[in-house]
Amino acid sequence: MGRISWKGSVLLAPVPSVMVTCGKGEEANIITIGWCGVASSKPPRVYISVRPERHSYKLIEETGEFVINLTPSSMVEVCDYVGTVTGRCVNKAEKTGLTLIPSDSVGVPTIEQCPLALECRVFQKLSLGSHDMFLADVVSVSVDEDLVDKDGKLHLDRVNLLVYSHGEYFETGKKLGPIGTSMQKGKRGKYAKIGVRAPENQNKGRNRR
Ligand SMILES: Cc1cc2nc3c(=O)[nH]c(=O)nc-3n(C[C@H](O)[C@H](O)[C@H](O)COP(=O)(O)O)c2cc1C
Repeated sequence: MGRISWKGSVLLAPVPSVMVTCGKGEEANIITIGWCGVASSKPPRVYISVRPERHSYKLIEETGEFVINLTPSSMVEVCDYVGTVTGRCVNKAEKTGLTLIPSDSVGVPTIEQCPLALECRVFQKLSLGSHDMFLADVVSVSVDEDLVDKDGKLHLDRVNLLVYSHGEYFETGKKLGPIGTSMQKGKRGKYAKIGVRAPENQNKGRNRR
């Protein structure tokens, strides 16, 4: 089968489609962000990339804080809406019924309807082209208690999260196996016999990426 070669573009997919809260008090705003990710596990650091012309850009610069609210797929329409209108003209929380509640560690609010929120404090901004990247420490995380079992274990599989892929929305939802599935004995672990774990990956828990 042949392959077609294109010039460089940002066809990295899927990416999360998250709702980011920014600004404090009356100024609080919500922006949909697809260009975001994990920058470091320890210390926990993430980034969002925002165009300087966005209303939210100014708010993030002023406060040095933002909250990444993970979006359940059931909230696709509201997520699309806050990513289409600007907080310069519209109070998006009022218009949509999204409830802004105080965050634990930062001054900008969290969206109550979102099951998990990463509270972030910016430590560096990089100007990269169309977007500026805000690199931030995750100073705390709040999670809907329905996602946590009695032993304190997080079950993110209890919610279908929204993802964005080349102009379209999809949902996560089908669990294929835990990390390390290639090394498990049985049906899925077809590489178990030929696997030699990298020394730095031995004895590491599932979240120690
Ligand atoms: C799925 C989706 C992903 C988006 N990702 C980004 C992004 O990563 N960075 C960005 O600057 N704008 C992104 N946008 C556009 C902003 O969300 C949109 O321009 C929003 O209306 C800006 O709001 P504001 O003016 O209140 O800040 C995205 C929009 C959608 C619908």
